[in-house]
Amino acid sequence: MKTAIYPGTFDPITNGHIDVLIKATKIFDQVILAVAEKTDKETTFSTSERLDLCREATKDIAGIKVVKFDGLVVDFAVEMKAETMIRGLRAISDFEYELSLSLINEKLNSKISTIFFVPDLKYLYLSSSLIRQVVALGGNAKDLIPDCVLKALLKKK
Ligand code: COA
Repeated sequence: MKTAIYPGTFDPITNGHIDVLIKATKIFDQVILAVAEKTDKETTFSTSERLDLCREATKDIAGIKVVKFDGLVVDFAVEMKAETMIRGLRAISDFEYELSLSLINEKLNSKISTIFFVPDLKYLYLSSSLIRQVVALGGNAKDLIPDCVLKALLKKK
Protein backbone atom coordinates (compact mmCIF):
# COMPACT_ATOMS: atom_id res chain seq x y z
CA MET A 1 0.00 0.00 0.00
CA LYS A 2 1.47 3.34 -1.10
CA THR A 3 0.86 6.05 1.48
CA ALA A 4 1.71 9.76 1.25
CA ILE A 5 1.23 12.55 3.73
CA TYR A 6 0.03 16.03 2.82
CA PRO A 7 1.07 18.30 5.70
CA GLY A 8 -0.08 21.85 6.31
CA THR A 9 -1.76 24.25 8.66
CA PHE A 10 -5.10 24.18 6.79
CA ASP A 11 -6.40 27.33 8.49
CA PRO A 12 -8.81 26.70 6.83
CA ILE A 13 -8.71 24.06 4.08
CA THR A 14 -9.59 25.52 0.66
CA ASN A 15 -10.61 24.10 -2.72
CA GLY A 16 -6.97 24.58 -3.77
CA HIS A 17 -5.84 22.11 -1.09
CA ILE A 18 -8.62 19.72 -2.10
CA ASP A 19 -7.55 19.92 -5.75
CA VAL A 20 -4.00 18.90 -4.75
CA LEU A 21 -5.39 16.15 -2.54
CA ILE A 22 -7.52 14.66 -5.34
CA LYS A 23 -4.51 14.67 -7.68
CA ALA A 24 -2.49 12.82 -5.02
CA THR A 25 -5.17 10.15 -4.50
CA LYS A 26 -4.77 9.16 -8.17
CA ILE A 27 -1.18 8.13 -7.45
CA PHE A 28 -1.31 6.91 -3.84
CA ASP A 29 -3.58 4.30 -2.22
CA GLN A 30 -3.86 6.42 0.90
CA VAL A 31 -3.21 10.12 1.45
CA ILE A 32 -2.97 11.33 5.02
CA LEU A 33 -3.95 14.95 5.42
CA ALA A 34 -1.60 15.91 8.23
CA VAL A 35 -2.87 18.92 10.17
CA ALA A 36 -0.06 20.68 12.05
CA GLU A 37 -0.99 21.29 15.69
CA LYS A 38 1.59 23.98 16.23
CA THR A 39 2.98 26.27 13.55
CA ASP A 40 4.70 29.64 13.55
CA LYS A 41 1.36 31.15 12.52
CA GLU A 42 -1.33 32.26 14.90
CA THR A 43 -4.32 30.31 13.65
CA THR A 44 -7.91 31.51 13.32
CA PHE A 45 -9.25 27.99 13.88
CA SER A 46 -8.20 25.70 16.73
CA THR A 47 -6.59 22.37 15.91
CA SER A 48 -9.85 20.50 16.52
CA GLU A 49 -11.78 22.97 14.33
CA ARG A 50 -9.22 22.61 11.53
CA LEU A 51 -9.40 18.81 11.84
CA ASP A 52 -13.22 18.81 11.77
CA LEU A 53 -13.30 21.09 8.71
CA CYS A 54 -10.73 18.95 6.88
CA ARG A 55 -12.74 15.79 7.69
CA GLU A 56 -16.04 17.30 6.57
CA ALA A 57 -14.54 18.79 3.40
CA THR A 58 -12.91 15.50 2.32
CA LYS A 59 -15.55 13.01 3.46
CA ASP A 60 -16.55 12.09 -0.12
CA ILE A 61 -13.00 11.51 -1.36
CA ALA A 62 -11.88 7.88 -1.11
CA GLY A 63 -8.46 7.07 0.32
CA ILE A 64 -8.12 10.10 2.62
CA LYS A 65 -7.40 10.07 6.33
CA VAL A 66 -7.20 13.28 8.38
CA VAL A 67 -4.76 13.16 11.31
CA LYS A 68 -3.14 15.86 13.45
CA PHE A 69 0.57 15.91 14.09
CA ASP A 70 3.07 17.63 16.30
CA GLY A 71 6.87 17.70 16.09
CA LEU A 72 8.90 17.02 12.97
CA VAL A 73 6.88 16.23 9.88
CA VAL A 74 9.43 13.61 8.73
CA ASP A 75 8.98 11.73 12.02
CA PHE A 76 5.23 11.79 11.51
CA ALA A 77 5.71 10.44 7.96
CA VAL A 78 7.71 7.49 9.38
CA GLU A 79 5.00 6.90 12.00
CA MET A 80 2.40 6.79 9.21
CA LYS A 81 4.64 4.49 7.09
CA ALA A 82 4.73 7.11 4.33
CA GLU A 83 7.83 7.71 2.21
CA THR A 84 6.38 10.62 0.29
CA MET A 85 5.28 14.07 1.28
CA ILE A 86 2.87 16.03 -0.91
CA ARG A 87 3.02 19.81 -1.25
CA GLY A 88 1.21 22.22 -3.54
CA LEU A 89 3.21 24.61 -5.70
CA ARG A 90 1.13 27.59 -6.71
CA ALA A 91 3.41 30.27 -8.03
CA ILE A 92 7.08 31.03 -8.38
CA SER A 93 6.87 32.79 -5.00
CA ASP A 94 6.22 29.41 -3.32
CA PHE A 95 9.32 27.88 -4.84
CA GLU A 96 12.07 29.13 -2.55
CA TYR A 97 10.22 28.25 0.65
CA GLU A 98 9.14 24.85 -0.68
CA LEU A 99 12.65 24.08 -1.90
CA SER A 100 14.20 24.81 1.50
CA LEU A 101 11.44 22.88 3.29
CA SER A 102 11.94 19.82 1.11
CA LEU A 103 15.74 20.02 1.41
CA ILE A 104 15.70 20.30 5.21
CA ASN A 105 13.24 17.42 5.39
CA GLU A 106 15.45 15.33 3.12
CA LYS A 107 18.45 16.19 5.30
CA LEU A 108 16.51 15.10 8.40
CA ASN A 109 15.39 11.86 6.76
CA SER A 110 16.74 10.93 3.34
CA LYS A 111 14.09 8.21 2.93
CA ILE A 112 11.30 10.79 2.67
CA SER A 113 10.87 12.58 -0.67
CA THR A 114 8.59 15.46 -1.57
CA ILE A 115 6.30 15.49 -4.60
CA PHE A 116 4.78 18.78 -5.77
CA PHE A 117 1.41 19.16 -7.42
CA VAL A 118 0.23 22.32 -9.16
CA PRO A 119 -3.36 23.24 -8.27
CA ASP A 120 -5.83 24.03 -11.02
CA LEU A 121 -5.40 27.49 -12.57
CA LYS A 122 -8.57 28.77 -10.89
CA TYR A 123 -7.03 28.10 -7.45
CA LEU A 124 -3.49 29.24 -8.22
CA TYR A 125 -3.80 32.57 -6.40
CA LEU A 126 -5.61 31.14 -3.37
CA SER A 127 -4.32 31.11 0.19
CA SER A 128 -6.03 30.54 3.51
CA SER A 129 -5.29 34.06 4.73
CA LEU A 130 -6.74 35.64 1.57
CA ILE A 131 -9.89 33.56 1.99
CA ARG A 132 -10.21 34.59 5.64
CA GLN A 133 -9.93 38.23 4.57
CA VAL A 134 -12.43 37.93 1.70
CA VAL A 135 -15.09 36.34 3.93
CA ALA A 136 -14.43 38.72 6.84
CA LEU A 137 -14.95 41.70 4.52
CA GLY A 138 -18.15 40.30 3.01
CA GLY A 139 -16.71 39.13 -0.33
CA ASN A 140 -17.93 36.12 -2.28
CA ALA A 141 -15.70 33.08 -1.70
CA LYS A 142 -18.32 30.47 -2.56
CA ASP A 143 -16.42 28.75 -5.40
CA LEU A 144 -13.13 28.78 -3.55
CA ILE A 145 -13.91 26.93 -0.31
CA PRO A 146 -16.13 24.03 0.77
CA ASP A 147 -19.56 25.01 2.20
CA CYS A 148 -18.61 23.86 5.71
CA VAL A 149 -15.61 26.22 5.65
CA LEU A 150 -17.74 29.14 4.47
CA LYS A 151 -20.20 28.52 7.32
CA ALA A 152 -17.39 28.26 9.87
CA LEU A 153 -15.77 31.48 8.64
CA LEU A 154 -19.09 33.34 8.75
CA LYS A 155 -19.51 32.23 12.38
CA LYS A 156 -16.10 33.74 13.22
CA LYS A 157 -17.10 37.16 11.85
N1 COA B 1 -4.42 25.93 -2.25
C1 COA B 1 -4.62 26.99 -1.48
N2 COA B 1 -3.72 27.47 -0.62
C2 COA B 1 -2.56 26.82 -0.53
C3 COA B 1 -2.26 25.70 -1.30
C4 COA B 1 -3.25 25.25 -2.20
N3 COA B 1 -3.07 24.19 -2.97
N4 COA B 1 -1.03 25.28 -0.98
C5 COA B 1 -0.57 26.12 -0.06
N5 COA B 1 -1.49 27.05 0.22
C6 COA B 1 -1.38 28.18 1.15
C7 COA B 1 -1.98 27.92 2.47
O1 COA B 1 -3.34 28.23 2.48
C8 COA B 1 -1.17 28.83 3.36
O2 COA B 1 -1.70 30.13 3.26
P1 COA B 1 -1.53 31.21 4.43
O3 COA B 1 -0.06 31.41 4.63
O4 COA B 1 -2.22 32.38 3.88
O5 COA B 1 -2.18 30.64 5.65
C9 COA B 1 0.22 28.82 2.71
O6 COA B 1 -0.01 28.41 1.38
C10 COA B 1 1.18 27.83 3.27
O7 COA B 1 0.48 26.96 4.09
P2 COA B 1 0.65 25.42 4.29
O8 COA B 1 0.62 24.67 3.02
O9 COA B 1 -0.34 25.03 5.32
O10 COA B 1 2.04 25.29 4.79
P3 COA B 1 2.60 25.88 6.09
O11 COA B 1 3.82 26.59 5.66
O12 COA B 1 1.62 26.63 6.90
O13 COA B 1 2.88 24.57 6.89
C11 COA B 1 4.18 22.73 7.60
C12 COA B 1 4.07 23.96 6.75
C13 COA B 1 3.18 22.63 8.72
C14 COA B 1 4.02 21.56 6.69
C15 COA B 1 5.61 22.84 8.14
O14 COA B 1 5.75 24.02 8.87
C16 COA B 1 5.97 21.67 9.00
O15 COA B 1 6.23 20.60 8.49
N6 COA B 1 6.00 21.88 10.33
C17 COA B 1 6.35 20.84 11.28
C18 COA B 1 7.78 21.01 11.79
C19 COA B 1 8.74 20.57 10.75
O16 COA B 1 8.99 19.40 10.56
N7 COA B 1 9.33 21.56 10.03
C20 COA B 1 10.19 21.29 8.91
C21 COA B 1 11.60 21.01 9.30
S1 COA B 1 12.29 22.16 10.43
